[in-house]
Amino acid sequence: MRISVIGSGYVGLVTAVCFAELGHEVTLYDNDPAKQHALQQGLSPIHERYVPELLKRHLGGKLKLSNSLADSVGQSVAIFVAVGTPPTVNGEADLSYVESVAREIAANIKDYKIVVGKSTVPVYTSEWVRRVMLLNGAPADLFDVASNPEFLREGTAVTDFLYPDRIVIGTDNLRCTETLQQIYRPLTDGSYYQRGDAIPAPKPMTGAVRLIATTAKSAELIKYASNAFLAMKISFINAVATLCESVGADVDQVKEGIGSDSRIGRQFLNPGLGYGGSCFPKDLSAYRAVARECGYDFRLLEEVMHINNEQRERFLRKVRHALWTLKGKRLGVLGLAFKGGTDDVRESPAVAVVKSLIDEGCRIQAYDPAAVTNAREILGSQNIEYVASALDAAKDADALLVLTDWEEFRTLDLVELHKRLHYPIVIDGRNMFNPDAMAERGFIYTSVGRPDVPHEIPGATNGSPRQKPNFRTPASPTVKVP
Ligand code: UGA
Repeated sequence: MRISVIGSGYVGLVTAVCFAELGHEVTLYDNDPAKQHALQQGLSPIHERYVPELLKRHLGGKLKLSNSLADSVGQSVAIFVAVGTPPTVNGEADLSYVESVAREIAANIKDYKIVVGKSTVPVYTSEWVRRVMLLNGAPADLFDVASNPEFLREGTAVTDFLYPDRIVIGTDNLRCTETLQQIYRPLTDGSYYQRGDAIPAPKPMTGAVRLIATTAKSAELIKYASNAFLAMKISFINAVATLCESVGADVDQVKEGIGSDSRIGRQFLNPGLGYGGSCFPKDLSAYRAVARECGYDFRLLEEVMHINNEQRERFLRKVRHALWTLKGKRLGVLGLAFKGGTDDVRESPAVAVVKSLIDEGCRIQAYDPAAVTNAREILGSQNIEYVASALDAAKDADALLVLTDWEEFRTLDLVELHKRLHYPIVIDGRNMFNPDAMAERGFIYTSVGRPDVPHEIPGATNGSPRQKPNFRTPASPTVKVP
């Protein structure tokens, strides 16, 4: 099938290389000369596993680059729109890029096309796209508009695309449904998985991938509702973790207890600094705004956002609690990206925490395996030094803060780490270490929703400042004994 993808950001680029991998003839269009230039050299503008391999495999073959939207549209049957939908000041999604692409497609339509929304957009966007195209002269019988939301996570985007839990296609007629079914057939009939050169599966495949066909409106809602639900799970476990800290329980045990219920599941129950990134924060605000516009006040989402913002404040309180005063303190920082496996720092909780600490007069030694270039653009270089390794970040530091869940941090040489630190204090915002292992090696270790170790610093009793933060005595029982 001849496909064009408009926009070479995370979603667009991954979609384009993966469609080429499935055997389609793909044209990737972007109006950003810098991205085009990088791609022409075969370089991926994003840090994303398997994208470089797939570019190498398909660029110049199944995958072509284009700087003309008219040419891309002319050559394709299906046009996937993957342009940005950044938030406006009111938290709504800015759809002006989507609109302008719709206008341009309309101006270049000569034979039947389907225009497929891949960007995260509010319900009714497909209808608006259709209307804009009609108003701009596209004949009604020459196009259909569909919604095909993506559920890719940064860091695992390629395998999420090729080994999805489900594919959702939202269309309003059969012709369009059949075209999209054909595009995804190598995944739904499993033929891609038989190929010797297939990108390796991240998990054992239990059967063919399920394709869920819905109306365009339902598909648009599925995308926002999925992200909102995942964010809600994270805020839920963060609220539970706060309660664990108050009563001296262990959130790992609680998580195991609730996550073992198959109706709840274990995934997305990791407490920490809260969610960040280019999707959840923006999508929750946009979803709330859309719901309000449609007459429903979705207050649950407000609470999810509120709990999420509180997590950073709570973490900063833990840092103050561990160090008493912050001005002039030297702090090692592990991680700046919004999560491990990516160089993306958009809405990164790690960057927000570092910013606050710099404002409070700390000097930061930060290490991130991939995100330093992007972080430097936001944090600058005043009172922050970007170092080459995790152990360098710890050198002579008054405490080490873990802010991003990069896998490599789990296997750090703890003996060496202890030697490098000025004080052996580790404040872990991502629960990367085992508290018992940390205690054994002599660290003073604080994490999220788990008891601090050691419970007391030897000799620091009698009104010492090392009491548990936010400790409250248990509330009196409300059940009356007859
Ligand atoms: C998210 C969704 O997971 C994707 O399904 C969706 O396609 C994508 O948004 C999008 O709309 O484009 P992504 O933002 O790449 O993907 O990252 P996630 O892995 O979902 O993590 C989001 C944030 O939640 C990160 O800051 C992460 O550290 C945090 N998180 C995640 C937790 O704090 N706890 C968890 O248990 C899981």
